[in-house]
Amino acid sequence: MNTKANPGMGQPLPTRVPVSLGERSYDILIGPGLLADELVWQGLPAASHALIVTNETVAPLYAEKLAARLSATYRQVHLLGLPDGEAYKDWTTLNRIFDVLLAEGCDRKTVLFALGGGVVGDMTGFAAACYMRGVPFVQVPTTLLAQVDSSVGGKTAINHPLGKNMVGAFHQPARVICDLDTLATLPSREMSAGLAEVIKYGPIADPVFLEWLEQNIEGLRRRQPDLLVHAVRRSCEIKAQVVGADEREGGLRAILNFGHTFGHAIEAGLGFGAWLHGEAVAAGMVMAAELSERLGLTPPGLCRRLARLIERAGLPSRGPALGTDEYLRHMRVDKKAEAGDIRFVVIEGLGRAALRTAPDGLVAECIAAHCG
Ligand code: NAD
Ligand code: GLY
Repeated sequence: MNTKANPGMGQPLPTRVPVSLGERSYDILIGPGLLADELVWQGLPAASHALIVTNETVAPLYAEKLAARLSATYRQVHLLGLPDGEAYKDWTTLNRIFDVLLAEGCDRKTVLFALGGGVVGDMTGFAAACYMRGVPFVQVPTTLLAQVDSSVGGKTAINHPLGKNMVGAFHQPARVICDLDTLATLPSREMSAGLAEVIKYGPIADPVFLEWLEQNIEGLRRRQPDLLVHAVRRSCEIKAQVVGADEREGGLRAILNFGHTFGHAIEAGLGFGAWLHGEAVAAGMVMAAELSERLGLTPPGLCRRLARLIERAGLPSRGPALGTDEYLRHMRVDKKAEAGDIRFVVIEGLGRAALRTAPDGLVAECIAAHCG
């Protein structure tokens, strides 16, 4: 952890995690107080216009602070507050971003700033990928989920009535700035949902991190600052390494979807929004661990261990009783499915993940053991 003094600023330097993607490389900066830290906002792409895209919940909390910071660099700083919610991650709302960009005469150098959770980040990134065939954007994530996952890696999208995140593009941000102080206002249910994505990184990549989480999960739920720095940094390091090796998900990147195949079935089966994404992923990871054990890939014990940690994080360790057929039906339309075969992220020994198919009977046993 970097705790060196920041010369002249009297506060620690932010922690820096590089994402190495050749000419698309960028830094993730992590720490408290970054919205007020002048240095963090230096060296951004030059332009005369900047547009902050946020939502009606986050705007009153942090938009003014961000606008003040950006006005030192950009001659015109515009602000757009979108309605809040996954339901608005659609064409109509996306179009409002283009409406403002065009109405304000924003040129092809304009920089977009995504201030909010994953919904705002995904939509702003997609708008940046499309506007005048591509303008730069900066992620300023304000949920734990966005800080440890969605703001990093350049996946941007909106939803289609027939599928979640089905219309989008890969477009890497120019920088990711995670001000940990913004998590102070996050509802505790959203905090727990973010912890599900943090927990994910342990079994897929880092057994030591998993142990650390077991020792510190209550402190993380209380948002203890030193623990947050470590959890966000380690999560971003793992994600940056995976994205650096497989930016467009030719293979490896799919391991970031541990628990997501079962989780997707929960979200789709209950209707999107009934459970938060992180809650569905949490129960999904328990089922995926069970499957890894039943396939003989990982020694018994991981499933019970993960379930205990997930419950301590304030998350559900059991899925809803949708019925096995309903689970299987939704899993067949998962983005990882190929030619109707469901592919699962499984743990091949703690800290190593892989994609595997599995017989329906075995999957049904996992569902029966951990649902209802
Ligand atoms: P979200 O963006 O809906 O934010 C959750 C809620 O918290 C919202 O009501 C939001 O307004 C509120 N909020 C945000 N910051 C706050 C703060 N600091 N204080 C108080 N309230 C705050 O949800 P999310 O969990 O951040 O993101 C979920 C989205 O991310 C989904 O659309 C999902 O598809 C996407 N996602 C994308 C990727 C990717 O790689 N691009 C990865 C994972 C998830
Ligand atoms: N959240 C999964 C990914 O970025 O690939």
